[in-house]
Amino acid sequence: MTSKPVHVACIMDGNGRWARKRGLPRTAGHTAGEETLSDVVRAASKREIDYLTVFGFSTENWVRPRAEVKHILGLHKKLFGRISELNENNIRVNWIGRPFDEVGSQTPVYVQRAIRKAIQDTADNTGMVLTVAFDYGSRAELTRAAQNLVKSGQSLNAENLSKYLYDTSLPPVDVLVRTSGESRISNFLLWQISNAKIYFTDRPWPDFDAVELDAALALINN
Ligand code: IPE
Ligand code: IPE
Ligand code: MG
Repeated sequence: MTSKPVHVACIMDGNGRWARKRGLPRTAGHTAGEETLSDVVRAASKREIDYLTVFGFSTENWVRPRAEVKHILGLHKKLFGRISELNENNIRVNWIGRPFDEVGSQTPVYVQRAIRKAIQDTADNTGMVLTVAFDYGSRAELTRAAQNLVKSGQSLNAENLSKYLYDTSLPPVDVLVRTSGESRISNFLLWQISNAKIYFTDRPWPDFDAVELDAALALINN
């Protein structure tokens, strides 16, 4: 019998290399990557995946050139703004990342607003949960969880620590995808992927498609 994963996560890497190969600026790669994400979200939802979590922007990515960061922020505003498309597909938007009021958080207010609005406007959907990791880093998440657990006075064990992750409703990741030929985890969901199958592909994210998605999903049966 074939089964399907409950939770699929993607490290969407290689936008810059995709663009360079075509003689285009890196920003064009990010724009293409956002289109790919929209296609992959639809494909995953059609395949009745319950949770899709994507790495949109890391706590480490802020050091990139200002213009590139600005472009990526704009694309996230656009992504969180695709409300009617998400509603048509019964997809609920979710976000994980450094809390906006935490010291060091740099998420501009216009992106915060877009995130809040997308969550609100899709809250009643009952299909796939699309979680966008924005200003996300697993070490920041786990450090905060450990600090909050210590503050709570409860005993330090795995079950209690997992109560302090950014989103306690996310199930463990079954399949993790990393595109563009890097076999790195890059500080993504370190706790949640402890038992995941990992699908590495040489294709850069803008070239990722439903055929690749199916190959990744099939890992669950191996
Ligand atoms: C992934 O593509 C997008 C983000 C990290 C925001 P990259 O921008 O890392 O592309 P490469 O790795 O330089 O090709
Ligand atoms: C991982 O890609 C982060 C995202 C996809 C948002 P990076 O390109 O930032 O990762 P490294 O630098 O290759 O580890
Ligand atoms: Mg990269």
